[in-house]
Amino acid sequence: MDTNWKEKLEELRTAFEGILQNYTDNMNLKPDILNESMKYSLVQGGKRLRPVLMFACAQMLGGKVQDVAGFALALEMIHTYSLIHDDLPAMDNDDFRRGKPSNHRQFGEGQAILAGDALLNEAYSICFEECSKGKSYRNAAAFLCKNAGAYGMVAGQAADLFWQGRLDAGKAEADFIVLNKTAKMIMSAVTVPAYVYNADENIIALFSEFGKNFGFLFQITDDILDETGEFEKLGKTVGKDKQENKLSALALFGREKSEELADHYCNICLQILNEMPYESGFLQALTQYVRRREA
Ligand code: IPE
Ligand code: IPE
Ligand code: MG
Ligand code: MG
Ligand code: MG
Repeated sequence: MDTNWKEKLEELRTAFEGILQNYTDNMNLKPDILNESMKYSLVQGGKRLRPVLMFACAQMLGGKVQDVAGFALALEMIHTYSLIHDDLPAMDNDDFRRGKPSNHRQFGEGQAILAGDALLNEAYSICFEECSKGKSYRNAAAFLCKNAGAYGMVAGQAADLFWQGRLDAGKAEADFIVLNKTAKMIMSAVTVPAYVYNADENIIALFSEFGKNFGFLFQITDDILDETGEFEKLGKTVGKDKQENKLSALALFGREKSEELADHYCNICLQILNEMPYESGFLQALTQYVRRREA
């Protein structure tokens, strides 16, 4: 195992915080409440997993953090908007996020909806700017945007709500939810660099498959932590999924089988990394860390 992986994680996280800081420092929106509510959710507390994955993949392909900085920012902004909306009373009705009152608890539901809308639109503006860098960037932007919307995260969230409390659903429905609401955004994180550097089709497919399995691993550990985790570490309320009758592998098959499934996805991720013709020590360590994460 890569023994320096924790330092690398910190280095990549810090790099992202710098990029985000630069963006928020130049944000002077009116009305003030919009500026404040967007910053409130953006600046503090997130693990920054998706930007870290994007940067790590860029470096693994021989590139630099700066090459994908715009896309990392856009992806984290879309992710943040998805969390603001996910917490609304009309969705998961969660009072805490990233260790603070959720956006609508702080600013009211209307402002929270608008902060989310604004983050999404800003993310697309950033993607448009990236597109001027050439065809490979346009391909990357197209992949990212597709995975965030009607063919990805939004579809997953719609299915997540639709199946809540219904008994006529099984593994296929639970898998559709995870693939779309979570895995597609992670597929974007890891595959965008492959597009940017014009990797060939087989390499793009490998990154995409890695992201998909990492997404399943990430969501199943999120679901397990909703049952077993601690508020202080997670920064969000625990025990909500059962209360809200969420459909998941955990709800369908129980804890033991879910731990086995998490091992399964973890092993597939490691296998895919081994198949890649690159030095993947950091991503292997990160995968194993996510498998046993407490936050
Ligand atoms: C939470 O994502 C939503 C899921 C897909 C499970 P994260 O756990 O990455 O949230 P932050 O960004 O660290 O707050
Ligand atoms: C949300 O999944 C995934 C998103 C796209 C926001 P969850 O509803 O399980 O995420 P948490 O547990 O609230 O972070
Ligand atoms: Mg949800
Ligand atoms: Mg939720
Ligand atoms: Mg959850």
